[in-house]
Amino acid sequence: MLEKISVAPPDPILGLTDAFRKDTRPEKINLGVGIYQDETGRTPVLASVKRAEHLAWQEEPTKEYLGIGGDPLFTERIRDLVFGETLPANRSVTMQAPGGTGALRIAADFLHQQFPQATAWLSQPTWANHPAIFAAAGVPSRDYGYLTADSRAVDLNKMMDNLREAREGDVVLLHGCCHNPSGVDLTGDQWHTLADFFRKHRLLPLIDLAYQGFGDGLEPDAIGARHFAQQGLEFFTAASCSKNFGIYRERVGALTIATESASSIEAVTSQVKVAVRCNFSNPPAHGAAVVARVLGDSLLRQLWTQELDTMRGRIRDMRDLFAAEMQLAIGTNRFDFIRQQRGMFSFAGLTPAQVDRLRDEHAIYMVRSGRMNVAGMCAATLPRLAQAIASVL
Ligand code: LMR
Repeated sequence: MLEKISVAPPDPILGLTDAFRKDTRPEKINLGVGIYQDETGRTPVLASVKRAEHLAWQEEPTKEYLGIGGDPLFTERIRDLVFGETLPANRSVTMQAPGGTGALRIAADFLHQQFPQATAWLSQPTWANHPAIFAAAGVPSRDYGYLTADSRAVDLNKMMDNLREAREGDVVLLHGCCHNPSGVDLTGDQWHTLADFFRKHRLLPLIDLAYQGFGDGLEPDAIGARHFAQQGLEFFTAASCSKNFGIYRERVGALTIATESASSIEAVTSQVKVAVRCNFSNPPAHGAAVVARVLGDSLLRQLWTQELDTMRGRIRDMRDLFAAEMQLAIGTNRFDFIRQQRGMFSFAGLTPAQVDRLRDEHAIYMVRSGRMNVAGMCAATLPRLAQAIASVL
């Protein structure tokens, strides 16, 4: 039977990492997968995380299963990190999940079970894994337009025009900050307009918050989620700790569901638990214990915040340097828009054929959509990167 199975195409993002590792050219540059790299091209463990891990290892009392909802210290502290004081505990539930992807999948499974007619609306463009996650959960998806024609700003009118076709109870996936792949974020006013729009049309927002702290800072990056909470909206938030704590392989994330009334919480919680139990049963403990410790200890938290500021600052610097190097390489300010964008990613505006040439001729890897991981750039190799891009334009 198994001989009938055909080979699946490599993952458009993680598949690049495999190809990059196999590339023997010493000058290779990886701008594919969204991981932060320092100036030397490494992704070291944060000092705050190392210290918390050491303490967690010394003091861990047991390796018994966590509850289905995860580590209560973690879920309480991650909820505070995302929502501050804006979300009342009695009309929300936060469940630990294996990474932001795990949180999205649990949300999708829950939605499919409870609202089998619902469609998920995704920004065009979006993270390559979003449609796959909803498809795997049996939730059909459709696109809404997100960017203006020049890809420099959000086209809110186009977005709402498309979403007027959504039916009551449909889910609208939004990027909380650092839009992946474009780096173009909703403004505060746009979040406000959308809150009213979703309430009026009875749509369920799902905010994917994978980069809190990588845009403008921990609080400004959460303005959308916090505004929806303050407005008393019913909505979902899938938060990830992969990037802001640099614990990619530990798989730490959280799904928060905010309800309109406290009376729904018991039923909602019980149904999400069903989705978790038949998926991964209960989440892994280590990474969440580390995050809980960092957030709960004032010194570790201060150290972590500084480390996060450093990562964000370096990405900003790379945006400026890249724009300047491109100006030198092509003689125009065509790439200056990169400076205004936020987070790890931006579009270089390259075609798939140009991206292939970068890989084949220059050992430079990026996603075929032309998405570059700015957090993978470093000052020493930027001139070569700019020259290579100029040569394929
Ligand atoms: C990315 O978009 O590169 C990251 O979110 C990593 C991933 O899992 O795709």
